[in-house]
Amino acid sequence: MIEDGPQAVVWAAAVAGAAAEDDWSLLDAEETARAGRFHFAADRDRYVRRRAFLRRLLGTECGLDPRHIGFMRSPQGKLALAPGLDAALHFNQSARAGLTVVAVSRHGPLGVDIEPYRRLDDLEALAATVLTEREQGELAAIDAAERPAAFLRAWTAKEALLKATGDGLMVDPKAIELAIGRDPPHLRRCHVDAAAAWSLLNLDGLPDYAGAVAAQDPGLQIALRRVDARSLGS
Ligand SMILES: CC(C)(COP(=O)(O)OP(=O)(O)OC[C@H]1O[C@@H](n2cnc3c(N)ncnc32)[C@H](O)[C@@H]1OP(=O)(O)O)[C@@H](O)C(=O)NCCC(=O)NCCS
Repeated sequence: MIEDGPQAVVWAAAVAGAAAEDDWSLLDAEETARAGRFHFAADRDRYVRRRAFLRRLLGTECGLDPRHIGFMRSPQGKLALAPGLDAALHFNQSARAGLTVVAVSRHGPLGVDIEPYRRLDDLEALAATVLTEREQGELAAIDAAERPAAFLRAWTAKEALLKATGDGLMVDPKAIELAIGRDPPHLRRCHVDAAAAWSLLNLDGLPDYAGAVAAQDPGLQIALRRVDARSLGS
């Protein structure tokens, strides 16, 4: 559960491997149909496991059976609790490879994003598509061995902010400008007014992943909790 204090809790859970009957049984008809549309079994299992995990987590936070959690989705795709449920509870999810993270807060909207650290052979081209010229210049000045990680940290920070505002990739990531290489990320400008009201933090503590949380919470603090995806709300 989220404790008192100005903090977002980020729950991280491994979701690789086969989904169990216990996971499937939590999904509603729409989620079950979406699961059925995945081409590869591994993708389907990951989706079922991460959605079951989200339901268990929100069920625990709301004091409800995970099957009774209802969702709504904004036109831009952001998932939220259905009307009538805990209106003060904000959450956002990200999943990559075998890991999912869910950030929850009672201090306003938030966004979370993760990316596995990896070699990026096409880094310069990639940077040109999502970083401003100033950001690209700052990235190029970083030691070559450190550059992919610096890029992934900046990229997850931008995505976290785009997810916090709910815009997602409908907004050009270049509308956000960060000071590359700073921890916590330093926001120079962004696509929404009152940029100062948004806080950005790197998600440290996931050794193989870059990650970031953005929230409309000037006093943002993050507590990271690693859990078993099936251990909550049972
Ligand atoms: C939102 C977006 C940035 C997510 O990026 P991603 O790195 O591929 O995926 P992640 O695993 O980090 O996040 C996916 C989750 O983010 C959430 N999400 C989706 N759109 C979102 C938005 N606009 N704002 C905040 N969160 C969003 C959802 O919960 C989604 O999981 P779900 O579909 O299972 O519910 C990206 O998918 C996007 O903007 N796409 C373009 C917009 C679009 O296609 N919208 C669909 C309209 S229905």
